[in-house]
Amino acid sequence: MKNKILFFLSLAVIITLVSCNKNNGVEIDYEYYTDADYQMMSQYLDIPPVPMGYEDKFPDYYGVGNRTYNRDLATLGRVLFYDKNLSDDRTISCASCHRQDIGFSDDVAFSDGVNGRKTTRNSLALGSVFSFNEYYGSAIIGRVPFFWDNRASSVQEQSKATLGNPDEMNMAMHEVLDRVKEQPYYRPLFEKAYGHDVQDEQEILDAISIFVNSIGSFNSKYDQAVDQYLNSNNGSLSGINSSDLSKLSAVENKGRKLFVANCSSCHGNIEEGVAAPGLIQANNGLEMVYEDDGIGNGMFKVPTLRNVEKTGPYMHDGRFATLEDVVDHYNEGIVNHSHLSTQLKVGNQPKRMNMNNQEKAALVTFLKTYTDQEFLSAKKYSDPFKL
Ligand code: HEC
Ligand code: HEC
Repeated sequence: MKNKILFFLSLAVIITLVSCNKNNGVEIDYEYYTDADYQMMSQYLDIPPVPMGYEDKFPDYYGVGNRTYNRDLATLGRVLFYDKNLSDDRTISCASCHRQDIGFSDDVAFSDGVNGRKTTRNSLALGSVFSFNEYYGSAIIGRVPFFWDNRASSVQEQSKATLGNPDEMNMAMHEVLDRVKEQPYYRPLFEKAYGHDVQDEQEILDAISIFVNSIGSFNSKYDQAVDQYLNSNNGSLSGINSSDLSKLSAVENKGRKLFVANCSSCHGNIEEGVAAPGLIQANNGLEMVYEDDGIGNGMFKVPTLRNVEKTGPYMHDGRFATLEDVVDHYNEGIVNHSHLSTQLKVGNQPKRMNMNNQEKAALVTFLKTYTDQEFLSAKKYSDPFKL
């Protein structure tokens, strides 16, 4: 009898152990970080005892499956991205100018940097940095360009420039390294990510880059609508531009047609995703004489429109407060700059789209289908700091 009880007791213990060991199919290693390390880190950081998974599930229509990022590197990168200690006066982190709830952009034309300084351009929204890579593709241009003037070819290069920029974080890389060494929570994070304590500037940049690349917005209403079309059309997108998408409202569908007719030659036909890139850079006729000439000749990066509802103000100088203002510009305000892109010209003249008020409103309504609520609040991209 005693033996039987013991047997069932130990069976119960084994079952509990086994079931605790599985959490949504993820193996839990109880000693992922040592107890002492986890307790120490928990004084500063709200991070789980085992790192969250970092995976982008691309929509089916991209045809590229999922992409998984090393979770230790992404976790380290997340902490670095949110750490104000990485800036000269310890007031600014990457996230100060790239706020998750507004699509990793900023809500002002020019962002506050360290020492009371301001950026000279509008913060760019993140959320498809990897898909920029996937979208523009190295085969097409030989590199992945970043910044409004496409001057950086990788997130590492971009981050180094931003950290060093006197208007932004004003830190040489050796100073960044010292600040990282100074913070106790980085030792266990580095040990997991790289197998050793903090020692290398490049490793800092690589971890930031993995995190930034993992920031992916691919589950907007629009993505869902295109996937639904694909899957109810035997896996083919043919005919999509002339069809209404059943997941979109009548107004959204109307706006979508206006977008395909007037905007997708540059911003891309998202539904054709990887296969059909728009332009990488263009002059969209904002000025006759540009104060900031961008790449040259008033050309700037064609930015992603993912989560564009949230990322205002708009353009490299944040000149437009609302999407209505943006649409007014394209509809009737394009100026005849000598390098105005041909997509926005008719003959020698700037294109006039002649949309009426209803059509302009429909276009704006359509642009809002690029909003991805899940992305804007996903825990894995959020601020891990307790203070
Ligand atoms: C003070 C504000 C500020 C801070 C801090 C800041 N950024 Fe930015 N970020 C910007 C601005 C402004 C731009 C556009 C600059 C330009 O094009 O010249 C930008 C552009 C970028 C881009 C290019 C996106 C694209 O599509 O080309 C990336 C990536 C980026 N930032 C990531 C980061 C990371 C990582 C950090 C921290 C190491 C950081 N930013 C810190 C303001 C900031
Ligand atoms: C000739 C190519 C081209 C066409 C066509 C075009 N755009 Fe743009 N778009 C650009 C460029 C380049 C920029 C950045 C310009 C700058 O900041 O100086 C831009 C910027 C934007 C922005 C600002 C995004 C941000 O994050 O600040 C929005 C919104 C936008 N375009 C929407 C549209 C809409 C809607 C249409 C169609 C009515 C359209 N675009 C047609 C090239 C184009």
